[in-house]
Amino acid sequence: MKTVIFYYTGTGNSLWTARLLAKEIGNAALHPLSQMDTSAAIDADAVGLVFPVHMWGVPGLVLQFLKKLQKSPNTCYFAFAVNAGQVSRTIIQLKKFMALRGMVLSAGFDIVLPSNYIPWGGPGPAEKLEELYQAAREKLKRAALYIVRGEVGAVERGPLWQRIVFTALYKMTFNMIPKMDRDFWVDKKCNGCAICEKICPVGNIAMKTGKPAWLHHCEQCLACIQWCPQEALQLGKKTPMYERYRHPEIKIRDITGRAKEYFESGTLSLKNSMR
Ligand SMILES: Cc1cc2nc3c(=O)[nH]c(=O)nc-3n(C[C@H](O)[C@H](O)[C@H](O)COP(=O)(O)O)c2cc1C
Ligand code: SF4
Ligand code: SF4
Repeated sequence: MKTVIFYYTGTGNSLWTARLLAKEIGNAALHPLSQMDTSAAIDADAVGLVFPVHMWGVPGLVLQFLKKLQKSPNTCYFAFAVNAGQVSRTIIQLKKFMALRGMVLSAGFDIVLPSNYIPWGGPGPAEKLEELYQAAREKLKRAALYIVRGEVGAVERGPLWQRIVFTALYKMTFNMIPKMDRDFWVDKKCNGCAICEKICPVGNIAMKTGKPAWLHHCEQCLACIQWCPQEALQLGKKTPMYERYRHPEIKIRDITGRAKEYFESGTLSLKNSMR
């Protein structure tokens, strides 16, 4: 089975998931979805999507990608929603969104990994993180087997209360996300290294007079704040007190890319997103 896995990641959890999955499935290529030219049909028997859950649903960037993805009748689609314990209705939402575009999601899995949502605190104690990584490794093995065997039908979801309460919140916050970057600021530790500018998957940071400025088409992936080597980048009032999080097996070079150039060249355009 020839497989292509598209991933979106802020702090590496989804990239780690995609890598393990590719290894378990075999014969799988990995691509960051923010840099993918979706105008050409994808030559694969199976297409996988691996992405973080944002605000209890599918991130706008993933929806935008799917709107442009050329569907193929003989391709099987599967997805992994990487989250911190509140997957809510994400995979149901994804399945419906894909169905409207003529794509059938054969299987969707919920993978729980440490939280990178720093406004609510740091990732937690190291032993707890290791437990999460181990549980995810085991689940990924089982899920890969499910996909390789051609089984269909899995659509994992959170409990009913989550789906009711959080779906409403997802809808309320979705259109606010691009401008949530107004709460970012830098403290005096910023040395102007421009790593935040390079790591932003959507080219939403520009260095101005040696400091980052945010351009208000943010995806809130939080890569910029979590990867700043000086921990100089802050979000709101509390983040100076909170520990940063990045997946320990993912390095900065694994996720810095040419996203800005792709956006500027029009390969992907935020202006055409569903927002
Ligand atoms: C803006 C934002 C919103 C988030 N919302 C949720 C959520 O609704 N449910 C959840 O379980 N985790 C949520 N998280 C946590 C991430 O989904 C989780 O940490 C994920 O593993 C991060 O993946 P990444 O490292 O590939 O970016 C959120 C994170 C961010 C940055
Ligand atoms: S990564 Fe941090 S130190 Fe470097 S420019 Fe950005 S905010 Fe400043
Ligand atoms: S500005 Fe920061 S949070 Fe917003 S999309 Fe870029 S890296 Fe992610």
